[in-house]
Amino acid sequence: MQQLLHAGCYHSNLFISCFVPISILLLLASPLNACSQLDRESLLSFHDGLLLTTNNSLVDSWNGSDCCLWEGIGCNTNGAVTRISLPSKELRGEISPALANLTQLSYIDLSHNWLAGTLPSALLWSSSIVTFDVSFNRLTGGLPELPSSTNGALPMKLLNVSSNCFTGPFPSFSWGLTRNLVALDGSGNSFTGLVPASLCGGSRYLDFLDLSRNQFSGNIPHGFGNCSELRVFLAGHNNLIGILPDDLFEAASLRHLSLPNNHLSGVLDGKRIAKLSNIIMLDLGGNELSGHLPESIGQLVNLEHLALYSNRLSGNLPSSLSNCTSLKDLNLRANNFNGNLSAFNFSSLSNLNTIDLAINNFTGGIPESIYTCRNLIALRLSTNALTGQVSHGMTNLQALSFLSLSINYFTNISGTLNILKKCKNLTVILLGENFKHEAFPDADWTGEFQRLQILSLGKCQLTGQIPFWLSKLTNLEGLDLSGNKLTGTIPSWFNTLPKLFSLNVSDNYLSGEIPQAITEMPLLASEQGVAQLDPSYFVLPVFNLKIKSWFPQYNKLSAFSPSLSLRNNSFTGAIPPEIGRLKALQVLDLSFNNLSGGIPPQLDNLTNLEKMDLSSNHLTGMIPPSLNNLNFLAVFSVADNDLEGPIPSGNQLDTFPISSFQGNPKLCGSVINRPCSNSTLGDLPPLSTKRPNRDLLLAVALGLTFGGCFLLGIFLQLYIG
Ligand SMILES: *[C@@H]1O[C@H](CO)[C@@H](O)[C@H](O)[C@H]1NC(C)=O
Ligand SMILES: *[C@@H]1O[C@H](CO)[C@@H](O)[C@H](O)[C@H]1NC(C)=O
Ligand SMILES: *[C@@H]1O[C@H](CO)[C@@H](O)[C@H](O)[C@H]1NC(C)=O
Ligand SMILES: *[C@@H]1O[C@H](CO)[C@@H](O)[C@H](O)[C@H]1NC(C)=O
Ligand SMILES: *[C@@H]1O[C@H](CO)[C@@H](O)[C@H](O)[C@H]1NC(C)=O
Ligand SMILES: *[C@@H]1O[C@H](CO)[C@@H](O)[C@H](O)[C@H]1NC(C)=O
Ligand SMILES: *[C@@H]1O[C@H](CO)[C@@H](O)[C@H](O)[C@H]1NC(C)=O
Repeated sequence: MQQLLHAGCYHSNLFISCFVPISILLLLASPLNACSQLDRESLLSFHDGLLLTTNNSLVDSWNGSDCCLWEGIGCNTNGAVTRISLPSKELRGEISPALANLTQLSYIDLSHNWLAGTLPSALLWSSSIVTFDVSFNRLTGGLPELPSSTNGALPMKLLNVSSNCFTGPFPSFSWGLTRNLVALDGSGNSFTGLVPASLCGGSRYLDFLDLSRNQFSGNIPHGFGNCSELRVFLAGHNNLIGILPDDLFEAASLRHLSLPNNHLSGVLDGKRIAKLSNIIMLDLGGNELSGHLPESIGQLVNLEHLALYSNRLSGNLPSSLSNCTSLKDLNLRANNFNGNLSAFNFSSLSNLNTIDLAINNFTGGIPESIYTCRNLIALRLSTNALTGQVSHGMTNLQALSFLSLSINYFTNISGTLNILKKCKNLTVILLGENFKHEAFPDADWTGEFQRLQILSLGKCQLTGQIPFWLSKLTNLEGLDLSGNKLTGTIPSWFNTLPKLFSLNVSDNYLSGEIPQAITEMPLLASEQGVAQLDPSYFVLPVFNLKIKSWFPQYNKLSAFSPSLSLRNNSFTGAIPPEIGRLKALQVLDLSFNNLSGGIPPQLDNLTNLEKMDLSSNHLTGMIPPSLNNLNFLAVFSVADNDLEGPIPSGNQLDTFPISSFQGNPKLCGSVINRPCSNSTLGDLPPLSTKRPNRDLLLAVALGLTFGGCFLLGIFLQLYIG
């Protein structure tokens, strides 16, 4: 209602003829520069619409008579308010339409606040505002269309409504009058309908358009051919389908075209690609593109970032790609590219920082020419059909931090590590599923691999023992030795690695008791757990995330679980009660061993545990009732042991399926449909008096199960990529 009234009077002549004289009078009556009464009232109406806490600085500052002196307000020499600059001021409440009464307002920045409600139409389409930024708030509703009665161009140059909760179709008509628009940022909302391709019909100077992370759908319509000034067009993470319109390639000024994670299809047409002669960033990853990478890609000499990951592209790497000498990031991951990789000459691509060719069907060896790319920081060639050995040339790559060669047919693990140890900057080395049946390299390395944080040699079927040199990797945080043929015991030095928090030795032939040292791993035993780790990012995500996620934090080390997996070995003896010290642990897997004795009640200290698997051992005695306190548990199994007595009921444990308990003939309880006899019932511990509210429990259980699965998913995929 207010909005309507306002829209009505905003363009009325009455407004001008009645109120301008009054404000002149006011001006005459007050010292020069002091704000006009009308502007002051508009600002106060805006202030009234806010829900400010008493300690908000606006509460104090906005009280004198001269509003030009108020915090965040700027005036021109006539005392008219021209600027409102209040970013990150913890403003709550709504944006009052009264602001549209500030007839000289040209700049408004209310970004990074908590403002809610709708955007007043008259304010949005003000005839004075040049810069309009309400990004990072909680505004809802649609972006209103310009009143059709409007005539004359609007002065607006920048409109930034990104990261709000806007819904509905994007205005289409209005852009005819925003003739001065240079940048439009609508990213991170829930806009629906077609991408507004007609934009440039009116807004001829449009340079920057960001529509990413919305729900735009349908084909990208024709119209971009009119965008003669458009440099940046971003519309990733929408539901766009079909082939790219012809005239998009006529926008010859495009520098940055980024449409990842849509459902775009068709082939990359060579003639069209060649037209993008100024392009610097081309990101069409996560779509359904097919066909070959055209030879004409070599004409894009300014191209720095080429991302075509997760499509259905096939064929060789065209040799012309080596003409893209500006290239810094090449990401062709997860396609059907094939052919002999060593036939491609990387020599001219010396600016490359990252190469990701994982999950394709490349054959041949690592091209020797790749070792001339001295600026390379990350190289991922995992999951192809590559053969041969890492050559000495690799030592040229002194900046290399991330290397993944997993799931190929490489040989000579000891030669490989001897070479890699000379690449001093390596923090992540993933070599799993190669070097089949070779011997685990042992050497008296002491000062090598000093920056290494993650080492994966999983599924290589390596023979030998866990070597001592691993104990010198003082920055090691994750170690995967699973799926080998390692024998002997777990060495006693695992408590000397200060940062190790993920250890996987499952599926080996290790034996002996679980050593005390394991229960003393410093990071796992600390209260802060992974929180204390350097939150630095890996250059490429370690994980092979299938989750369609655009959150970059999965690059982070701390995104995977603190875990200890000794599954499927020949460990004997009792579970040391001291494992209960590993407070930070989220995954404990001791299944498929020969462990005996009872389940230590001390495991109830592992309050962060999301998965506990003790199945297929020879454990005896009762399930400690205190395990019921492990509220985060999402996966639990004690199946196939010799446990007895009642399954603790009334809380977490009896929410797990029968399969979690099967193969223990002496267990009883309603979960497994085997009632406890009276005598066993007599042994039941008294029910806790502080039984949590049932609904809450259910909610927590559901929430955590989901969270748990998610985390475990990440954990399991950790060392693939
Ligand atoms: C302005 O603020 C000061 C202190 O914050 C207060 O003492 C004064 O009464 C206020 N003036 C008005 C007009 O509200
Ligand atoms: C704008 O100013 C006019 C005149 O003072 C007033 O009648 C109207 O209510 C104001 N609009 C809003 C939305 O405050
Ligand atoms: C819009 O605002 C966000 C956050 O304030 C900022 O990151 C982005 O660069 C802005 N967009 C434009 C086009 O200025
Ligand atoms: C690769 O290209 C460089 C020039 O960029 C050239 O000197 C070299 O001989 C080429 N290597 C092969 C194997 O063709
Ligand atoms: C990979 O290439 C080989 C031979 O070149 C072919 O037999 C195989 O089907 C291809 N695999 C995939 C997944 O395309
Ligand atoms: C090694 O990495 C660090 C940062 O991780 C970087 O500052 C340094 O330049 C790198 N060394 C080389 C030789 O590139
Ligand atoms: C393994 O690699 C090393 C270092 O490149 C090399 O000296 C050795 O001959 C290789 N061994 C085999 C069997 O290829």
